Amino acid sequence: MTPDDAAAVATIVADFAADRSRLLDIVEAVQRRSGFVSDDAVRAIAAGLRIHAVEVEDMISFYAFFDRQPRGRVRIRLSKTPISFLHGAEDVARAFEAALGIGMGETSADGAFTLQWTSDIGMADQEPAALVNGTVLTRIAAGDVPAIVAALRHHPGHDAPNAAVPNATVRSSLVQAGPLLTGPLDPGEGLRAALAMTPDAVIATISASNLRGRGGAGFPTGTKWRLTRKAQGQDHYVACNADEGEPGTFKDRVLLTEFADLVFDGMTIAGYALGARHGLVYLRGEYAYLWEPLQAVLQTRRTLGLLGADILGHAGFDFDIRIQLGAGAYVCGEESSMIESLEGKRGAPRDRPPFPTERGYLQQPTAVDNVESYVCAARIMAKGAAWFKGYGTAASSGTKLMSVSGDCARPGVYEVPFGITVNELLDRAGGAEAAYVQVSGPSGQAVAPKDFGRRIAYEDLSTGGSTMVFGPHRDVLAIALQFAEFFVDESCGWCVPCRVGTTLLREGMEKIVAGRATLSDITATETLANTVSRMSRCGLGQSAPNPILTTMRSFPELYEARMQPGSFVPRVTLPESLADAVRVQGRQPVAEEA
Ligand SMILES: Cc1cc2nc3c(=O)[nH]c(=O)nc-3n(C[C@H](O)[C@H](O)[C@H](O)COP(=O)(O)O)c2cc1C
Ligand code: SF4
Repeated sequence: MTPDDAAAVATIVADFAADRSRLLDIVEAVQRRSGFVSDDAVRAIAAGLRIHAVEVEDMISFYAFFDRQPRGRVRIRLSKTPISFLHGAEDVARAFEAALGIGMGETSADGAFTLQWTSDIGMADQEPAALVNGTVLTRIAAGDVPAIVAALRHHPGHDAPNAAVPNATVRSSLVQAGPLLTGPLDPGEGLRAALAMTPDAVIATISASNLRGRGGAGFPTGTKWRLTRKAQGQDHYVACNADEGEPGTFKDRVLLTEFADLVFDGMTIAGYALGARHGLVYLRGEYAYLWEPLQAVLQTRRTLGLLGADILGHAGFDFDIRIQLGAGAYVCGEESSMIESLEGKRGAPRDRPPFPTERGYLQQPTAVDNVESYVCAARIMAKGAAWFKGYGTAASSGTKLMSVSGDCARPGVYEVPFGITVNELLDRAGGAEAAYVQVSGPSGQAVAPKDFGRRIAYEDLSTGGSTMVFGPHRDVLAIALQFAEFFVDESCGWCVPCRVGTTLLREGMEKIVAGRATLSDITATETLANTVSRMSRCGLGQSAPNPILTTMRSFPELYEARMQPGSFVPRVTLPESLADAVRVQGRQPVAEEA
């Protein structure tokens, strides 16, 4: 390491006050400066933080965005999802290969470019998309690639300048706003209403609204806040989950782009209700381009007295928000992994209990809520619990932001009342031809046309919002295979059922898709899927088999049709054998419920 490099690492460590919990930021800064983290840099960071170098190495190895070896100065990561593929990502990949003279996963001989696939980058409404260092390119056609590469050649260096590169525009994509997102946007409206009440009354209002978490699991937000408030700790924390890693979802991106004040207002209300002084936003690394605009909003809020000391003149209420950038790991959306990552560690899920409400960030009581949940909280405080309950169903109050993508005329974000059917949502998005809808991303459910009358609601189709639409010409089983691959890539590897199971499931699906599977192969894949669901340690492994189990349930005829020619097919056996899948998913198809 040159003296310059050594001095730079020392400065970076000092910038973060040699704080071990900021290791993610420190490594990110070193990686951004040098393009990778060398052995010398690892040792220098470890020495600066007074920890063992193995701890630093271990952390780096966990995250897709960190490298231990030099890569291209310009790093092109092309989004690889069923949605990007149906919009031509394969052709775009071939065009990049031709323009750069390298294959996927390779670095050019002059060290200028690295080209690779990456998991969904939160742009399903404008695929094919790519991350180029920190810049997002969208709606890339194969024909655009020569101009993109030419622009990137003229702008070497780690950070590709936005304006100079074609396709470097992210559209906001809010197609339909409802009661949550329409109306004046007063940055402190909800907070002012909250500060007029006691913290307990704020929590009671959130509980009375029946707000349930918008990240997917649907836990009652008021209950979470109450548990966090009453938990003992030196400090309490408010954490916002902006990891948005579920393929096909991008509604939090839209909220952070257009409604950041509502997100921060909701977090500050939570800070008041919980007795917290610190808020943390975990922003997925793919959304790094939002970092500066979000910092600007935070700064304005400080100027307006909406953050900082004695907020809005309320003596003793001090609260501020820090944004932590992630580094490319889907599992970090799981709340306990997210907390580990916020602490600057590998994003491995924690054993629960204790839950974060009791022992979260730095072992202190922490409320982790989704971006949309905070937006709802801000509006509830401004407009009242009754207003919120006026929308939706008895068990699912309010509205839901749905991210719709794929084979539909109008992809984008739709704010819909809970209780809307899949059919109604498809009508709005121009997806009437749909032959298959994947609700709630790969970890959710495959829904067949016979079930398009089902409702988006916690009591029927529970969802974080991802809605991927596929037309009749798409290969459902090939899509399920792509989802199975996603889970292989994203498994953190900690527990055997998930680490080994996801790989075996992918192999099983490969055989099925290739038409080489017999009925017993399919049954074995299903049995394995159920085992992985039951035995995995965290939500990732528990839901990894869902694309297989739910396509088996919704499209048994496709599995039968793809069986090895000559296989014995007792026509009633396959659907019957899927009863186990239904049990594991805990949900009956509508026809059976009726
Ligand atoms: C693998 C995995 C990924 C997850 N990703 C996210 C995510 O990106 N955003 C999110 O809000 N919740 C995500 N969750 C759910 C969180 O663990 C947690 O339930 C949620 O952040 C709580 O917020 P809410 O109550 O407002 O929904 C994920 C869960 C799992 C198992
Ligand atoms: S289930 Fe998968 S992601 Fe979760 S701890 Fe086990 S290996 Fe890691």
